[in-house]
Amino acid sequence: MLEIKNLSTHFPTERGLVKAVNNVSLSLAKGEILGLVGESGCGKSMTLLSILRLVPFPGKIVGGEVTFRGCNLLEKKPAEMRTLRGQDIAMVFQDPMTTLNPVFRVGEQIGESLRIHGAMGKESFRRKYGENRKIAERKRVLELMREVGIPSAEERYLEYPHQFSGGMQQRALIAIALSCNPKLLLADEPTTALDVTIQAQILSLLEQINKEHGTGIILVTHDLGVAAEFCQRIAVMYAGSLVEIGPTDVVIEDPQHPYTIGLLRSIPKITGKKEKIKPIFGNVPDLAGLAGGCPFAPRCDFVEDACYSRDIPMRQITDNHQVRCLNSQGQNV
Ligand SMILES: Nc1ncnc2c1ncn2[C@@H]1O[C@H](COP(=O)(O)OP(=O)(O)O)[C@@H](O)[C@H]1O
Ligand SMILES: [Mg+2]
Repeated sequence: MLEIKNLSTHFPTERGLVKAVNNVSLSLAKGEILGLVGESGCGKSMTLLSILRLVPFPGKIVGGEVTFRGCNLLEKKPAEMRTLRGQDIAMVFQDPMTTLNPVFRVGEQIGESLRIHGAMGKESFRRKYGENRKIAERKRVLELMREVGIPSAEERYLEYPHQFSGGMQQRALIAIALSCNPKLLLADEPTTALDVTIQAQILSLLEQINKEHGTGIILVTHDLGVAAEFCQRIAVMYAGSLVEIGPTDVVIEDPQHPYTIGLLRSIPKITGKKEKIKPIFGNVPDLAGLAGGCPFAPRCDFVEDACYSRDIPMRQITDNHQVRCLNSQGQNV
């Protein structure tokens, strides 16, 4: 359904060129949930925004292809992209309050998204919800609110975003995202701002949407544990580059890239034998003026001279497991 090839998005800055997305290639099958994981600042959001061509100035997509259902989105006209956003591809952000408008009722905001994307003009919509536009819109909005688990939808329809808890605001945003039955949902840390119990509810809501509508989902998260639980495949990103991608069980049980191994070791475990958490030493590098070679080399336990001297290509380990590492020592640790 979605195929990204060598996508590169750069930011010219005073400190040098920031390659926020550096030659990223990945694909998403119909109805699949893919987790995009990595520390803050590694380029996850910019990857999603590049797919929608919403990269903020002065950032620019400088190369690559984003093929969605057979068309290269990077070649589409701005008007075509506007139609596509929301209608075929929807995005959910980390902080719902930055997306919801505080001065409009929640129900109206969900309804507005139906109007903007022309969902109500469709014959099938009118047949299902009736000819009266106002009544039809309200019916559909209430249906969406119930679907995303907002209780007492009729009362809540009239409330303002600040009257909603964080979890409920995120549900409202998901209702907006779903209003046009998108084929692809880009979820950018949708649960980072929420308590863990609410986080689990929102994630299972996304899972339910995926099952019922076959919506493909790219779930961006800095939490490998979340990705492991909800995604069929995991892509690990570091300093603008994808460093490992594979089926979830393979990436978790047989990680090959030292960064993935480090991430896994830094997750605290509640059950089983008590193990010491091993942090990855050092910090994420400044992406401005990053030299060639493996960006993880300065923090890597298995570093060799060759790691600094050239760009490392993705290497196929098995059919669907790829890693960007010269020696993938992972097998031996
Ligand atoms: N407006 C901007 N100007 C310059 N650089 C930016 C800007 N926005 C993002 N970047 C760069 O892009 C990198 C990736 O950002 P982002 O995709 O938001 O990271 P993530 O979502 O993984 O936390 C950042 O580390 C930063 O260096
Ligand atoms: Mg982000």
